[in-house]
Amino acid sequence: MKPIYKRLVLGATLTAALAGPAWLAFAEGGMDPYLPPDEIKAMMTMMMTMEPDTLKASVERGKVLFNDTSLGHNKTGQSCASCHPGGNTIGGAADMEWKGMTMKVAIPTLKTAASHFPKPAGPMKAVVDLMGMDNMCIMSFLKGDPLDRNSQAAVDLAAYVTSFASGKKVDPGGAKTVPTPVPGAM
Ligand code: HEC
Repeated sequence: MKPIYKRLVLGATLTAALAGPAWLAFAEGGMDPYLPPDEIKAMMTMMMTMEPDTLKASVERGKVLFNDTSLGHNKTGQSCASCHPGGNTIGGAADMEWKGMTMKVAIPTLKTAASHFPKPAGPMKAVVDLMGMDNMCIMSFLKGDPLDRNSQAAVDLAAYVTSFASGKKVDPGGAKTVPTPVPGAM
């Protein structure tokens, strides 16, 4: 593993973003939003020793992940680009399974995606940020393992997805962009 992928990233670590309202569990005393002391120490050490990075390099690494058919260890033979090639949409809808039901969900372009987060997403309507949404697509559509939100890979994928929306107005909660609506699809 390249050292860059060992970087810890400062920021929120509500890894359960997809599993439901994580803060509820926290409020009930079940989940601590802070990193454990040993991880904080490792982060401090890393911040003192890490090599400088650039946004351009991060976006490039994200592009590789976006086009990687083994992202999330998935066995579908698909990558993010299978549905969102170059940040566009192949059109139509994808099947999403939830609580034993299969529903049709229209495939959006990603040209506006980054500017719309955080927002409630998925059938469970959990409020997620862009990384949470990327993970949701990995789990729901690539049938793969989500990325660790503290990993550089999660940041790089989000950096690439964000690059599609460069210059767009920040509009948290905005609706996805579906150029050709699909009758009967969410
Ligand atoms: C099989 C098709 C498919 C694949 C593969 C796929 N997605 Fe998606 N993606 C969708 C659908 C369908 C939605 C809309 C979900 C919804 O409305 O809840 C979506 C929504 C999104 C959104 C939110 C767009 C918005 O404006 O709300 C982002 C960001 C996203 N996908 C990124 C990714 C990334 C990153 C990958 C690869 C890890 C990926 N997708 C793989 C079908 C796919």
